Amino acid sequence: MADALSEAEAANRLMRLAREIARHDRLYHDRDAPEISDADYDALVRENRELEARFPQLVRPDSPSKRLGAVPTSALAKVTHARAMLSLENAFSAGEVSDFVGRVRRFLSLDPAEPVTVTAEPKIDGLSCSLRYEAGLLVLAATRGDGGVGEDVTANARTIKDIPQRIANAPELMEVRGEVYMSKADFEALNARQEASGGKVFANPRNAAAGSLRQKDPGVTAARPLRFYAHGWGELSEPLAETQFEAMQRIAGFGLPIANLFVRCETVDAMLAHYAAIEQARADLPFDIDGVVYKVDRLDWQDRLGQVARAPRWALAHKFPAEKAETTLEGIDIQVGRTGKLTPVGRLKPVGVGGVMVANVTLHNRDEIARLGLRIGDRVRIQRAGDVIPQVVENLTRDEPRAAYVFPDHCPQCGSEAVAEQGEVDVRCTGGLVCPAQRFERLRHFVSRGALDIEGLGEKSIAEFIDLGWLHSPADIFRLHQHRADLLGREGWKEKSVDNLLAAIDAKRSPDPARFLFGLGIRHVGIVTAKDLLKCFVTVEALRAAATGDNAPAELASVEGVGAVVAEALIDFFHEPHNLQVWDDLLSEVRPQAYVSAARQTEWSGKTIVFTGTLETMSRDEAKAQAERLGARAAGSVSAKTDLVVAGPGAGSKLKKAEELGIRVVSEADWAEIVARA
Ligand code: IVH
Repeated sequence: MADALSEAEAANRLMRLAREIARHDRLYHDRDAPEISDADYDALVRENRELEARFPQLVRPDSPSKRLGAVPTSALAKVTHARAMLSLENAFSAGEVSDFVGRVRRFLSLDPAEPVTVTAEPKIDGLSCSLRYEAGLLVLAATRGDGGVGEDVTANARTIKDIPQRIANAPELMEVRGEVYMSKADFEALNARQEASGGKVFANPRNAAAGSLRQKDPGVTAARPLRFYAHGWGELSEPLAETQFEAMQRIAGFGLPIANLFVRCETVDAMLAHYAAIEQARADLPFDIDGVVYKVDRLDWQDRLGQVARAPRWALAHKFPAEKAETTLEGIDIQVGRTGKLTPVGRLKPVGVGGVMVANVTLHNRDEIARLGLRIGDRVRIQRAGDVIPQVVENLTRDEPRAAYVFPDHCPQCGSEAVAEQGEVDVRCTGGLVCPAQRFERLRHFVSRGALDIEGLGEKSIAEFIDLGWLHSPADIFRLHQHRADLLGREGWKEKSVDNLLAAIDAKRSPDPARFLFGLGIRHVGIVTAKDLLKCFVTVEALRAAATGDNAPAELASVEGVGAVVAEALIDFFHEPHNLQVWDDLLSEVRPQAYVSAARQTEWSGKTIVFTGTLETMSRDEAKAQAERLGARAAGSVSAKTDLVVAGPGAGSKLKKAEELGIRVVSEADWAEIVARA
């Protein structure tokens, strides 16, 4: 595939891959809620690597190949690893395993008669954790994070029975690394409990383990049945042994569990035979595994081999192929996500795949159903990649003459119209403000800093008020005072905090019209576009009249800074009766001001701004356009004449230079705030 692309296409694809992989990293690492299988994720990483190999000049500063998992974002304290926690190179075929051994041989210039002994052991599907023992005492436990910086989970790790708090006769300093995981049976039981209590249901044991370990409250972790297997080490005050195999035996001797099925192999054939044996045992193992890990046994060789980018040259993960099965598609349900996206989920006649009963598959989107020609009643081949929701890979009865499945054009949650924008595959509910599936996100956005900026109305309170049935739409925020007495009776609310909240809400009864418009969360209407629109229409009422008028497309698209896409989004929004109801209701509570044309003169007029690093909510071009609208100039390099540097993740030399020159540096979020205030 990489071969077919031109350089320009490759650059574009690499940009998309960087964005997509980063998104999946965040879903996986921060939210423990992956949307794609490991196999699909690996395919993306692989495509990225192949393209980079073919076009080395196109390797991006934010390339996924330069990162490990997502940088941790939770509230747990950060820990810098004494030795980086590496990842593993993946192989999917016997040929790649043999290539690996060949590479090791060449790198070490070994005599052909010299055997390369490797260890082979199961690759456990959990999350890696580093345990630091000083003078035999457990002093720190940390997750991998991005490999360089992880999270401190010491208190949580102390609740895991497999992890000794104290070990005898250990080196003065020893970091043991391994996998925290949850057994299949414990996972099923936990999910059943979670479901019964209305808690979060986890997609698979690994996500359950991650979600359980990365808790602020160790009490929660303690109640979750986590286990641990050691598979290596980090910093050591003295070597454990001369080989991987013996070092692991010593670690086992300290009372830390190591995996069964851990052997030494002297030939590629022996490695493949052990792989086959582990694959055979897989369904009967009490925990999920997704492959076999090979490691060069001699530790002096490991040292010489070193690492490339993010993975050691001396180790290889040999992944299992996805498991497949055939069954019948009995129905298609539509789920509505928090952003309004309609996701079709296939209901199957339950079938065993690799030892697990599967009853649901994700069908991704409307196009995927069309591509597979799926209809209810079809025989399908499904595949499960040891994790997440399985997928349909083939329709076995697509030639039978039966009516095609019709994708809904209304939201099953709120009845609003559901549409796919031009050129987009996702069908979205247009009910935004009224759709219960989207309520929380929408309300959170409405009160957020860049929008109405209601202080003290955070995510937790919004969720609480939604649960209490007090909040359905934004207008309800302005009616919260009706619940003052009830609120005072609730835990965590005192007279002062309640009064502060109600005062903060009242303070926003005449909001800035652009922030108000932005806060409605209409697609493509960011704060800058909202300002452009109001500059033209002055009041939100006039904007609505224009968007619902006969000449709406032309009238809206003629506004400077507004194109056909925004015009269409506005027309869709105001076309939806639910949205009009919400709008009217809201305007009975608040009175947005008329737009006062900010003189082109802002405090940023004539200033020079440099954007560097990855911007996450906007493109570089958009950021530059924002700067220009503030009267500032966006420059490409930092110099003494630079007034402000906006730095995102991955910022490098420009950021360094700005710091040397003492230039003010702000984050992307600060920048959004500056734009909103200007
Ligand atoms: S060794 C330097 N051995 O797989 C090599 N890793 O995909 C470090 N994993 O981050 C890892 N079972 O979390 C190793 N037997 C095993 C493993 C294993 C699971 C995880 C580990 C690693 C990830 C890489």
